[in-house]
Amino acid sequence: MAKTVLITGATSGIGKAAALQLAKQGYQVIIHGRNAKKTEAARQEIITASGHEHVSATTADLYSLSDVRRMCAEIQAQVSGLDILINNAGGLMGKEREITQEGFEKTFAVNVLAPFLITQLLMGLLIKSDDARIINVASNSHQLNAKPAFDDVQLKKQYNPLRSYGNAKLFLIWNTQHLAALLEKDGITNVRAYTMHPGAVATSFGVGSDLGPVLNFVSKLARFFFRSPEAGADTIVYLATEKNVPGKSGDYFVDRKPAKKSTRYFTPQREQLIWNYCLGQIDTIGSHRQSFL
Ligand SMILES: NC(=O)c1ccc[n+]([C@@H]2O[C@H](COP(=O)([O-])OP(=O)(O)OC[C@H]3O[C@@H](n4cnc5c(N)ncnc54)[C@H](OP(=O)(O)O)[C@@H]3O)[C@@H](O)[C@H]2O)c1
Repeated sequence: MAKTVLITGATSGIGKAAALQLAKQGYQVIIHGRNAKKTEAARQEIITASGHEHVSATTADLYSLSDVRRMCAEIQAQVSGLDILINNAGGLMGKEREITQEGFEKTFAVNVLAPFLITQLLMGLLIKSDDARIINVASNSHQLNAKPAFDDVQLKKQYNPLRSYGNAKLFLIWNTQHLAALLEKDGITNVRAYTMHPGAVATSFGVGSDLGPVLNFVSKLARFFFRSPEAGADTIVYLATEKNVPGKSGDYFVDRKPAKKSTRYFTPQREQLIWNYCLGQIDTIGSHRQSFL
């Protein structure tokens, strides 16, 4: 039977390119978007380009943990198992700190909390697979821009868009390696979790983010040298489909190879602190509690 894959943020850019490549390989693809019309248009485009009918769509605004819960409940009702979860949706915000309706800083909400909650809620489906993969799309910005403040995780005091984005991808990487360790501790060997950096990719990423005149200009120029969404999606598709992925669960990949993560701010205590912090935050918007993790 064909494997089922859910990919978030598949209405454009890297996510859409990955969804198309997986549809071409015969996977049952569930694409996620936040806007029903745009998501349906992407679904039709992927079906036409792949010649593969088994592409369905789901929608949720990942700024809203309530909406994430609704989407995951619908997916749980629709499919009996999930083989691959690709937490791809993410983004860079603007120079003014913005919060979601639920009170979370937006960069943190979409890049950290949403994938954290989706993974928790869909773990029951993933565990049913013989060989499940969770692929979290991170960024080398965790090396370039992160400067976490452990008493101010959502940067209420010293917000800066690149710092917030770098921190978010660093926390995503820590949460992924923490999850991998928990799965191993629980003897769950059929679910592996990875992070990856797609390279600098010419997508809608950062296009609407007002970083200020200088950075806006530099990022516009730099886009001429970026790789295509297809090339950006390559390592995602590789991690989803390759039988013998080198390295171990929890690793970070660049161009199909395990790569070094930043160790600058890492301690096991800080990793645990961020994990606990995320657990605490998602519990403020409905209880996440499941029978594992
Ligand atoms: N492009 C790069 O150079 C680069 C480099 C490193 C890492 N990344 C990472 O790669 C991933 C994909 O980005 P991309 O470059 O393909 O950018 P993109 O073209 O802007 O795609 C982002 C996707 O995420 C969705 N999304 C964003 N915020 C959302 C929200 N609140 N709720 C639901 N969906 C939301 C977008 O939906 P809409 O279509 O509705 O906006 C879109 O489908 C991100 O995690 C990004 O951080 C990108």
